[in-house]
Amino acid sequence: MFDRVWLNANLATMQGEGLGIVEDGAVAATAGRIAWVGPRAALPGPARETVDCAGAWILPGLIDCHTHLVFGGDRADEFERRLAGEDYAAILKAGGGILSTVRATRAASEDALLAAALPRARTLMAEGVTTLEVKSGYGLDTAAELRQLRVARRLGAELPLSVVTTLLAAHAVPPEFAGRRADYARLVAAETVPAAIGLADAVDVFHDTLAFNDEEAGWVLDAARRHGLPAKLHGDQHADAGSAMLGARHGVLSVDHLERANAAGLAAMGAAGTVAVLLPGACYFLRETARPDIAAMRAAGVRMAVGTDFNPGSSPALSLLLMLNMACTLFRLTVAESLRGVTVNAAAALGLADRGRLAPGRRCDLALYRIARPAELCYWVGGNPCIGRVVEGH
Ligand code: NIG
Ligand code: FE
Repeated sequence: MFDRVWLNANLATMQGEGLGIVEDGAVAATAGRIAWVGPRAALPGPARETVDCAGAWILPGLIDCHTHLVFGGDRADEFERRLAGEDYAAILKAGGGILSTVRATRAASEDALLAAALPRARTLMAEGVTTLEVKSGYGLDTAAELRQLRVARRLGAELPLSVVTTLLAAHAVPPEFAGRRADYARLVAAETVPAAIGLADAVDVFHDTLAFNDEEAGWVLDAARRHGLPAKLHGDQHADAGSAMLGARHGVLSVDHLERANAAGLAAMGAAGTVAVLLPGACYFLRETARPDIAAMRAAGVRMAVGTDFNPGSSPALSLLLMLNMACTLFRLTVAESLRGVTVNAAAALGLADRGRLAPGRRCDLALYRIARPAELCYWVGGNPCIGRVVEGH
């Protein structure tokens, strides 16, 4: 006897290489896990509760594997300055950009940061997101970074949502360390990473000509490895910094952005099994003309994930469905690639083997949509066809 079964639905299971479609399917759950999935006619047994989905489509609950959701203030002023011709990199170099969000985040209480983050998370959830990655990176000192991570943990405790936290203390050079970037990177490796054990599920580094170089990123990645934390990189966004190769060499879970990654680096990622996290919202919002080399990724067998990169500076985008559209229109991903990018491959980008597919034994995290075919999730620009969300069977 199953706890609950969802009937009269079409399934995109993400099993196999494509969408793994099952028409007129059923999903059964027991104790929060998927116990059975397949064609309704083959459902092996009864359930205590039956949910009639009235022809809806069921996907694995969506996973936004890259956000900077917890921060103080906003950057609408910077947006206007950029519209007037100023440049993202120049604003950061002059002490604005990320550093202006650092000032606002340091000045906000933990409760105020949580109050600002809650409605953002709910907006993403309303489209079917059941797992959300949240990075720190706007504290830039150990105490303030830990505070951001605690807020992220509280989000997961207060909402029916699985939150995965990432320490991004190596996001920018804090004002206290102006002109001493390497010293700050050493501090992150020696102090912040160990202090974040238990609060951070992973460690991220902004590896870029605007941020940290190979050596500095290497110290932080080595510290993560010493403390048993998986790692990821923001890389090859504003320049070809060799991030793809560096990430592959360090065995990181994912390298994210990659607009300017070179083909040799992407080949190394394919060989190492490193996931490429594509963030079309940042390309769009920064009016970036460089594009990730999708053909090289396909040729190298790199798994591609898609995230919002939600943050106040480069991607104030609270819609993962809109990112599906942009992944198709801006990056020319197929519908199947895009949808796998917010399910099975997003799970891989977070190192989570227990979700991202509709398969027995996985968490019963589902997203239900009133659509006629999966392509609609990538096709509509705006609007929200999500009619239900299930987290651990509920
Ligand atoms: O993912 N690239 C670095 N970090 C963020 C931007 C952060 C900001 O501008 O506040 C990103 O694009
Ligand atoms: Fe980011």
